[in-house]
Amino acid sequence: MAGRVDGPLKVTGRADYGADHTFPGLVHGYVVLSTIAHGEIEAMEVTAAKSAPGVIGVYSPFDPLELKTPATAFLGATWVPLQDKEVAYYGQPIGFVVAETYEQARDAAMLVEVTYRSRPALTSFEDGLATAEEAPASRGVPASLSVLAPGVESIEEALDASPVVVEATYSTATQNHAAMEPHSAVAAWGPDGLTIHSGNQGSDIQAAELAGALDVSPADVHAVNPFVGGAFGGKGRTSVPAFLAAAAARVLDRPVKAALSREQVFTATAGRAATVQKIALGAEHDGTLNALRHDSWCSTAADRSFVEPTSHGTSREWYATRNLAISQKMVPLNIPPTTFMRAPGEAPGSFALESAIDELAVALKMDPIELRQRNNSNAPPGNDLQWSSKHLDECFRVGAARFGWSDRSPQGKTDGDWLVGIGTATAMFPALRFPATIEVTLLPDDTAVVATSGADPGTGLLTVLSLVGGESLDISPDRVEPRLGDSTLPPGGMSGGSTATASAGSAIMIAAAKAIDDLLKLASAPGAPFEGLEVSYADGKVFAEGRTMTFGELLRALNRPSLSVAGSSAPGEELTKHSFSSFGAQFCEVRVHKWTREIRVSRMLGVFDAGRIINPVAARSQIIGGMIWGVSAALHEGLEIEANGRLANGDFASYLIPVNADIPEVDVHFVEYPDTLHNPVGAKGIGEIGTVGMAAAVANAVHNATGIRVRHIPIQIEDLL
Ligand code: MOS
Repeated sequence: MAGRVDGPLKVTGRADYGADHTFPGLVHGYVVLSTIAHGEIEAMEVTAAKSAPGVIGVYSPFDPLELKTPATAFLGATWVPLQDKEVAYYGQPIGFVVAETYEQARDAAMLVEVTYRSRPALTSFEDGLATAEEAPASRGVPASLSVLAPGVESIEEALDASPVVVEATYSTATQNHAAMEPHSAVAAWGPDGLTIHSGNQGSDIQAAELAGALDVSPADVHAVNPFVGGAFGGKGRTSVPAFLAAAAARVLDRPVKAALSREQVFTATAGRAATVQKIALGAEHDGTLNALRHDSWCSTAADRSFVEPTSHGTSREWYATRNLAISQKMVPLNIPPTTFMRAPGEAPGSFALESAIDELAVALKMDPIELRQRNNSNAPPGNDLQWSSKHLDECFRVGAARFGWSDRSPQGKTDGDWLVGIGTATAMFPALRFPATIEVTLLPDDTAVVATSGADPGTGLLTVLSLVGGESLDISPDRVEPRLGDSTLPPGGMSGGSTATASAGSAIMIAAAKAIDDLLKLASAPGAPFEGLEVSYADGKVFAEGRTMTFGELLRALNRPSLSVAGSSAPGEELTKHSFSSFGAQFCEVRVHKWTREIRVSRMLGVFDAGRIINPVAARSQIIGGMIWGVSAALHEGLEIEANGRLANGDFASYLIPVNADIPEVDVHFVEYPDTLHNPVGAKGIGEIGTVGMAAAVANAVHNATGIRVRHIPIQIEDLL
């Protein structure tokens, strides 16, 4: 079984992450953050900082580094710091101090004195709900949408006509991106422009954003990020340290390193929105879903830059129902921005929907798996395009057998002082892909290079390049050198949206086929070893009439240093024929202590229908990470925001995430049905779905164990008293 080609480099410390890079003359920058939630900066006293030891530059809105707001087709506009005196949240980057050493920059930053003209700040999501705004369309769906059966006037009418109705309000907490590698950058300018080392989810997109911000040509920015210490959506946009390091390095004519401290990551980047979700389900006595209403509110930054689409992303696609109504509102607050975070929309959305389905099962006295299977959809409601491939029923069947679901008691069980319950939930995440270009190069030593600008933020894309490259060239993957994370390579899109394997893999297949075509033409050309013959290719070799040459031998015979071709692939006609999604069934067992109400997850299982699995080891690891994040959302994570906008728990000492002792063995299983209607590789995406549904499975297990329905996450001991 394949491991990871980058595994040895990573575990032996030879993988260089952004901040590991250094240059002669490197200086260090430290970001200054605001200490009010809303207002205007009246003055910044920087005299003391400027004369502190080692300081060579102090930048602020009064003496800014020049940065324009970049806009890319992929991400839209990205905010850049220091360009005005407005403060929209506590912990906003408002200054940058550069010194010879990191410690000097940090010490000088402490000497900067800021005077503010404060304005009233809205930092409470609950308070903000009263002034919620309609969200913009998301994923091509307007903020409000209803699909009603003929003759039905409103969703309320459909709910009223349903014999069994469950109606409840759920809420989910604000979360921080806690990737292992804090956002950082090392920037150096030379005769060819800027070279920047900064962890990101797509080097060509980062280069485009930096070029826009710095007002230079994209060809003048060389973004290099072959190793990224976790991203999950939090490194989709170019980070503040990257913008500041690049701009400062230009004016100072010195290479600059900037790295956020862990505490700074909590505010100077972006996180997951808090949500409130009202769900109403109307069903027949046999469980047939007659009506589904899902109204959502999410927090967003004052600039309204991101919507967490819990209604759009979740209810629209999950169940067959004759009547569906969804709405999505946003609540602008003076808090750090929100952004993509693993399964944006589906992660918090599935907590609400899959808890509500469990509540409906209880109301109907029906098995929750049977209820889900009864309402299995062939296509998203209101959409004529059937799923290309859906094996969710099998996920539940296999999962139920593997997990021992038939032993479940609707009232839970006890084991000494422990109340034991099991719960389940559906997982779904749309199968997407982006345009990608791959360059395949055949070399005279019988190896090949498969290269793209795309990033591997720990997902395993690097290994996927070698595996799909080897398969497409019909050679062993260890003869393929994968390259990525460099904006000078062909544009490979972004490692986001669970797309990278499908996007890059499809392009590899096209590039490899072209490379083999070109090779065969070379082989039979006049003067070539197979001149005039009908040549074929297999097993890395060209052959005809009993004669065989490896591609390397052929290139050597032809005196060619290499044969390079590029191949591109993009989503196309298939989008008019089918709907596409990955599916899964999540299972969880919890033990709640009868007296202390301590909640422990004791068993977890996820069974997924994610198309073809390219690398089982990495895929399992990817899914395990997602499932653990689901437990984290259910029982641990949540930012506490004080009235003044300061995060009360903005560090790893107080922001809870699970440790090994919180997580039992995690069982992962794939039902493997390659989906070649979606893309030629047949992979549907595994990056996000692992976390979807797991928080609901935990909450449903807690209900099974205790009889207590907790409709918010994280669930805490006091919720079960
Ligand atoms: Mo991820 S939220 O698809 O970058």
